[in-house]
Amino acid sequence: MDTFYFEGTQFTALKDETVLDCLLRKGVKVTNSCKSGICHSCILKSTSSLDDISQKGLNSSKKEAGFFLSCQQKVAPDLEVFMPDSSTLLAEGEITSQERVTESVVVLKIQTLKKFPFKAGQFTNIIREDGVCRSYSIASQTGDQELEFHIRKVPNGVLSNWLYDEELIGKKIQLSEPLGECCLNDEMDGQDLLLIGVGTGLAPLYGVLKDSISSGKMGAIKLFHGGLTVDSLYMVENLKAIDHKFDFFSYHPVFLKGEDKEGFLKGNLVDLIKNLNFDKKNTIVMICGDPLIVKNIKQSVFLSGVPSKSILSDPFVSHSSN
Ligand SMILES: Cc1cc2nc3c(=O)[nH]c(=O)nc-3n(C[C@H](O)[C@H](O)[C@H](O)COP(=O)(O)OP(=O)(O)OC[C@H]3O[C@@H](n4cnc5c(N)ncnc54)[C@H](O)[C@@H]3O)c2cc1C
Ligand code: FES
Repeated sequence: MDTFYFEGTQFTALKDETVLDCLLRKGVKVTNSCKSGICHSCILKSTSSLDDISQKGLNSSKKEAGFFLSCQQKVAPDLEVFMPDSSTLLAEGEITSQERVTESVVVLKIQTLKKFPFKAGQFTNIIREDGVCRSYSIASQTGDQELEFHIRKVPNGVLSNWLYDEELIGKKIQLSEPLGECCLNDEMDGQDLLLIGVGTGLAPLYGVLKDSISSGKMGAIKLFHGGLTVDSLYMVENLKAIDHKFDFFSYHPVFLKGEDKEGFLKGNLVDLIKNLNFDKKNTIVMICGDPLIVKNIKQSVFLSGVPSKSILSDPFVSHSSN
């Protein structure tokens, strides 16, 4: 069995245990969410040599400073681990608006106390006072001072139910550094955009859409927003108004169950995208939301001839551990 040191105290790990799991098993509070290397909420610091995988996705200055993802680092003999100073990694924010737009989706606005640089399409971790932490995509346009989030309440979900049910205006929360690759860059200028959001997967795409409209640098933009029923779709009127205003943008709300409704497409989003005609060589495809649907659409878009570098996705994976 391997031992390691956390803040100078020796811990003994089970076979193949990660640093995070060992610390949680021993009752040490370490913020975490996805346990799969995506959210970066479990960051710790070390002076020892680390597995490459535990620093994957960190920028070079963080790597050099010894930061690592504790959910990815297997315990190794005599590893020295420390809790980093959270003030260098987290930003303070205050909830300024909380609008319940459907029976299960709340649109939150959060004002950060200091400047919070991010790119439209990225996500951050919202951390509650008691340390419960989950990733949420930013629905704001690059440069906005107020951050918008679209949060779906999942059955028995700890944080999403709190964010939906409680009256939270004025409540302080913490946010981690923004992350994620579902963003536009200069090399994409002039290409068409196919945006596909499942449920609150609309959030990052909404930010990307607003960025594209104000930069005027993209070609034709199509947005497909899928939900189980018509009532589960939100921001419909807002997106229809944008569709009417700009010739280069078209909005397609899609639902699976219920009676036909004018202005909405009824059907399976995966099949709909499979049969969609678009310029495969000149389109950036972004797919966000439910992990299984994102995976299926990504696969069918790739098989239809879109190069993998032109397909960006953010599956909203979850790991219930808090
Ligand atoms: C990069 C990234 C971006 C994300 N962006 C968003 C976003 O913009 N909006 C948003 O609403 N969510 C988003 N998520 C999902 C979010 O992080 C949480 O997983 C979700 O809110 C559930 O957290 P919870 O604390 O309420 O549920 P938990 O307490 O973690 O889970 C409770 C139960 O619900 C199940 N569960 C968790 N998530 C789901 C789900 N999506 N569908 C069905 N069952 C579920 C769990 O397996 C568990 O059984 C994102 C996830 C990632 C990784
Ligand atoms: S990256 Fe470790 S918990 Fe998400």
